[in-house]
Order: sequence, then C-alpha cells, then structure tokens
Amino acid sequence: MTEQTLAIIKPDAVKKDAIGDIISRYEKAGLKPVAVRMMRMSKSVAEGFYAVHRQRPFFDSLTTFMASGPVVVLVLEGKDAVKRNRELMGATDPAKAAPGTIRAAHGTNIEFNAVHGSDSAESARVEINYFFSSMELGV
Ligand code: CMP
Repeated sequence: MTEQTLAIIKPDAVKKDAIGDIISRYEKAGLKPVAVRMMRMSKSVAEGFYAVHRQRPFFDSLTTFMASGPVVVLVLEGKDAVKRNRELMGATDPAKAAPGTIRAAHGTNIEFNAVHGSDSAESARVEINYFFSSMELGV
C-alpha cells in the first residue's frame, strides 16, 4: 500500500555531510521525498516532537541533541513506506543495526543515531502534520 512516513536526518548526520548519501538511499529504496525542509529545531519544538518520551531518562539529552544543529525533515512516500524506512534505518542502536543500514553507516550510538523514522502509520500522520502545512504537502 502506498503510504507516507516522516524521516529526520539528525544533527550528527548533517554535521558529517551525510545528507546526500541518506536521501539517495531513500530514493534508491523507492521512498520518494514529497516534502523536504532544512531547519533548526528549538528545544521546545524538539520536546513537542518527542513528547511520548517525556518520562524517559534520556528525554532531556535527546531533545538538547535534536536542537543542537540543523536537521533535514522529510516526508517520504512509497509502498509500505513506514516499514520500508525502518528496514533502511536499521535498529535504534547503531551497534545492533544490520550492515548496509543507514544507522550502521552513519550512527554513533543509541542517542546519536543519524536518522529518525515514524514507527507506525498513525505516528507518521501525527509527525507529518507536526512539521508540514497542508500547502507544503500539496493536499
Ligand atoms: P528515534 O528513532 O528518533 O526515536 C527516539 C529516540 O530516542 C531514538 O531515535 C534515539 O535517538 C533516542 N533513544 C532511544 N533509546 C535511547 C536510550 N536508551 N538512550 C538514549 N537515547 C535513546
């Protein structure tokens, strides 16, 4: 089924000049960028985005990291986009990510893990609407 997912190229990957490589991996996997923005999140925007993790011990450090530099936020569209993107990214912890995945190639540790991808169609809907207006989404 054709669906959309939200991806973020995180500050660590942007700093490493990995934007081009990562977007190319999405395209080669049949995940078409249909909306893209480079931005710097404020701490409060990062806190809103990761609100479901508010009670986790890593919440403050995760949101500080996400606000530490520019990111690229994308809506990717393709067949089974949520699942496909999670396969492409690999496990949350780059040390456990399969060879050939984005996190294995560009992640440093479980926190500085290069990319984010929505974990379900429902989170994708919420996350896409968090960052993009209907005009940017062409709807
Ligand atoms: P992401 O896919 O963006 O979703 C939540 C993020 O929290 C995750 O990637 C990691 O960057 C971070 N995260 C998850 N688990 C941990 C952990 N145990 N310690 C630190 N950061 C974590």
